[in-house]
Amino acid sequence: MAEKVRVAILLSGRGSNMLALSEYKRRDPDRAYEIVLVASNVPEARGLVLARRFGIKAWARSHRGIKREEFDSLLDAVLLEHKVEIVALAGYMRLLSPGFVEKWEGRILNIHPSLLPSHKGLDTHQRAILAGDEYAGCSVHVVTADLDSGPVVAQARVKILPRDDPDSLAARVLEQEHLLYPLALEEYCRALREDEAKEQERDAG
Ligand code: GAR
Repeated sequence: MAEKVRVAILLSGRGSNMLALSEYKRRDPDRAYEIVLVASNVPEARGLVLARRFGIKAWARSHRGIKREEFDSLLDAVLLEHKVEIVALAGYMRLLSPGFVEKWEGRILNIHPSLLPSHKGLDTHQRAILAGDEYAGCSVHVVTADLDSGPVVAQARVKILPRDDPDSLAARVLEQEHLLYPLALEEYCRALREDEAKEQERDAG
């Protein structure tokens, strides 16, 4: 079995998706990835407390008073220090600088609480209800320089009910996020190792 793909999770808040990713791995150590770091721009984020409780290394630095590029280069340094290969955004509520995204091209995944390309940005559930959509949901996508616009790798749908408000809808979508993200990350990491193996074969032959 190939070496595990070294994943860092970036978060800014509650950390329930981080827990889902970590729990999925804990249930079966044969998964293709291992979480080597949880990093945050919010030192008081609850997700950091949870990560430490589960024995995952956690790093935090407030973004306040630092330029975006400068913050992202600190982040880049800590990712390199931990030999991170894939970055999984899980409620990381800060735009990444174009330079960072370019450097990590194809190596950053995000989970977004809508059926992309619908409802990029914030307040997705409220907007889905106001638009009269039949379905809401969540999407895992590759991060590119444009907000919530990179290739979608997995989606899950949730029916919007007549009595839904943004909170009730968010709760049902979140349940789907917790199922979808681990599967999508696992698949992405497997594909990464397969591509690397093919490349090695090509180079050898
Ligand atoms: C999740 O619903 C995630 O999809 C959303 O933030 C929440 C984080 O919850 N992300 C975005 O809106 C990114 N644009 P969590 O901290 O409990 O995982």
